[in-house]
Amino acid sequence: MNILNYPHEIILSSEQIKERVSELGQEITRDYIGHDLLAICVLKGSILFFADLIRAIDLPLTTDFILVSSYNGNKESSGKAEIRHDITMPVKDRDILIVEDIIDTGISVDRIVEHLKEKGPNSIKICVLLDKKGARSPSCNIRCDYSGFDVPEKFLIGYGLDYNEKYRNLPFIAAMD
Ligand code: IMP
Ligand code: MG
Repeated sequence: MNILNYPHEIILSSEQIKERVSELGQEITRDYIGHDLLAICVLKGSILFFADLIRAIDLPLTTDFILVSSYNGNKESSGKAEIRHDITMPVKDRDILIVEDIIDTGISVDRIVEHLKEKGPNSIKICVLLDKKGARSPSCNIRCDYSGFDVPEKFLIGYGLDYNEKYRNLPFIAAMD
């Protein structure tokens, strides 16, 4: 393998991801029929998940992007999340679905929810591919409305997840040693 020249353990294969993303898309489709759905991709980690998920949602939807930083190239959360690039679409009367790659401490998604709430959408829900449930910060009490997989508290790469901006293009999800 040329793409990952590093000791690793495969946590989720591309087939497992594909199957689960399709299920999530069907679930979201059922729940949002008749709604003005605005799907927001949390950059950059969610790019692959977002691209696959929106194609699995059989509804007319709108997309937007938000960039929040918390890791700054490290393997551990800095404990602070900053909005670096905001959405540009109006949200009034829209139903927002935040699409996140992974929730670890929960600090990033908590910050995004607070930020988007101030804009006055009709509703906000969270769709996360990977949930490190055991790692939640005590100050965060976010609830995921759609969750792909519970994952161990290991540092994961691939399918959008990076280590120092690398490995996002792996088609599977692996744990780094
Ligand atoms: P949180 O604020 O601690 O919940 O972290 C959320 C963000 O940190 C995610 O959206 C990811 O971008 C990044 N992150 C958390 N865990 C991992 C990991 O295991 N690998 C790569 N990025 C991660
Ligand atoms: Mg992310």
